[in-house]
Amino acid sequence: MTIKSYETDDAVRNMLQKLSVLWKNRAAVNQELPDYNNLAFDPNKADFSECLLPFREHQAWLEAPEELKSQCLSYAWGIYNLKTIYVECNVVTPSCEDIIKTPPPSANRNLLQDVMSQALLDEALHTRMSIMACNYIYSMRALQPLDFTNFNLVQWRNDILSQCSSESERRLTRFSIACASETLITDYLKTMAEDKSIQTVCHEVTRTHAMDEWSHSSVFSFVASDIIHGLSQKEREHMRAIILRTVEMFANNEMGAWEKVFSMVNFPNARDILHDTGDSNEIGVYTGSVESLIERIGLNSKSGKAQPEAEQQEALQ
Ligand SMILES: [Fe+2]
Ligand SMILES: [Fe+2]
Repeated sequence: MTIKSYETDDAVRNMLQKLSVLWKNRAAVNQELPDYNNLAFDPNKADFSECLLPFREHQAWLEAPEELKSQCLSYAWGIYNLKTIYVECNVVTPSCEDIIKTPPPSANRNLLQDVMSQALLDEALHTRMSIMACNYIYSMRALQPLDFTNFNLVQWRNDILSQCSSESERRLTRFSIACASETLITDYLKTMAEDKSIQTVCHEVTRTHAMDEWSHSSVFSFVASDIIHGLSQKEREHMRAIILRTVEMFANNEMGAWEKVFSMVNFPNARDILHDTGDSNEIGVYTGSVESLIERIGLNSKSGKAQPEAEQQEALQ
């Protein structure tokens, strides 16, 4: 049986072609990376932006000794990067592999495989950058590395996938979570990428990553715009619902990781902080991004016609 392939409009094809060409010059993986070990380490600088801590205004945090707070900021860098690594390895990579191994029946089949294999290479480099930058900080601060695997985001994704009834539904769900993640990760990296007051290596690694992710957000939304042409109305609704729910994953405070850190450093009144800090971080940071993603890939319109935004056009300049 031959599966009839679907056609997309020229705009989607042209954008995918442009993104593929731009990757060759722009992606961090194609450039000489600085040796982060040669960047000056300043022990007086924080390793993480304190404004991102969900308990930054808690009394127990405000009253803690500065040295302990500094250690927690180093571990915040560790948690942040471990979570990034789980997004890369457990969320984005499997979806890139899905499209490479079993591309949708699109007229743009080769292009979809091409841009997804480029993103796969980028994510492998981001994982490497994250792990190197974490270990560098642990070694400069003489801290025991944090081992933590039980991220809520992984559990949440596994639960959603276990509710799917077919392999094609699982693939669409994996892609929807990855597509939303590739939009949300730009918001996740933004503060650290722009904060020049923190440790140089932490700022630089996050800035380099954020630049790649800006392109990925376009890559994934144009791949989504393509895939949507082959979906039924029911599948489109499923994709929309999953994209909206992925926000919870990014906004989660991962207090399980903090519980481990607080016990490693013997943080006073840690129980109070854990008890008083809820699960949901500033969810508003993320909701606007996924809503505009849904709009621009055409999930709000009956025709499924993508409506590229100015921001995306800008990414192609
Ligand atoms: Fe990445
Ligand atoms: Fe990415």
